[in-house]
Amino acid sequence: RIPVIIDCDTGVDDALALLFAVRHPGLDLRAVTCVAGNTDVDGVVRNTLTVLDVAGAGDVPVARGAERPLIEPARSATVHGRDGMGDIAGLPAPARRPVDTDAVTLLRREILASPRPVTLIPTAPLTNIALLLRTHPEVTRNLERIVFMGGAVAVGNATPVAEFNVWHDPEAAAILLTAGVPITMYGLDVFQRVVVPGEDVRRLRASTEPGTRLAGDLLAHRPSAPEADAGESAGGLGDAGAVCAVVDPAGLTTRPLPVEVSLAPGPTRGQTIVDRRPRHGESETHHGVREQALVDVGLDVDAERYARLYLGTVERGRGL
Ligand code: BDR
Ligand code: CA
Repeated sequence: RIPVIIDCDTGVDDALALLFAVRHPGLDLRAVTCVAGNTDVDGVVRNTLTVLDVAGAGDVPVARGAERPLIEPARSATVHGRDGMGDIAGLPAPARRPVDTDAVTLLRREILASPRPVTLIPTAPLTNIALLLRTHPEVTRNLERIVFMGGAVAVGNATPVAEFNVWHDPEAAAILLTAGVPITMYGLDVFQRVVVPGEDVRRLRASTEPGTRLAGDLLAHRPSAPEADAGESAGGLGDAGAVCAVVDPAGLTTRPLPVEVSLAPGPTRGQTIVDRRPRHGESETHHGVREQALVDVGLDVDAERYARLYLGTVERGRGL
């Protein structure tokens, strides 16, 4: 099984990602760390614990992380309801508790303790990850890859050009991009395309199994992008698609490209500038651009395959 750690801001679609990671037989979810984003960090911790309870997760350690971005003030997304998780009625208060240590300490411990290199999956602003990389750079020796949801090649959502997770803490994202480990960017361009059709969402919602029902309720809260045209009440997988990309990388078409985060104040702040100009040899410097580490940028996704993978995993616990 692939050892993974999810760093999240649960979050409707972070919850979908957690349900998938708990139930996929090929994944070994070793820890979950929480950061402010979709709601304040205490709300994120509470939502995360509840989702793990409902999913029937074993003893997965959960830690509270950063309350606010490195430089920006604290501010929450508004698209996930008042509680950050779609205000779904009837969600139980969590039975499990977070660990006593903070997220950075838990991340370090679990990464270094893993017998096999860990794949880190941030689906949130990158504050915890930046603090980890700066405080304990030795963790990179036991990281297989970082597959993060964030950024956009084309169009943003928090601003016309910036995606929420990167825009929320651009400095942290810039630190991540120079981590010196292989990185996959699961950005908005692919994120918005994976959609579960309305008839499947209705079936999930009618299930008597609590985790399956929760997935249905969460998907119902995530109307798909209009261009996806998947029919009424279809729901986007969002962050869960990044976890699909870990178990099924063949479903995601990536290209190694230089990516830089705009840190300038003003309208470009938080934009991920992806250099798609033709390259003439890996080591050559682009005109006017200093040489940068390459990021495997998701450019296309087999959306139907990931939707099937998601349903097969969450409903039946067996993947594709
Ligand atoms: C990202 O922002 C959050 O609202 C979602 O959970 C996702 O991680 C999309 O921009
Ligand atoms: Ca998220």
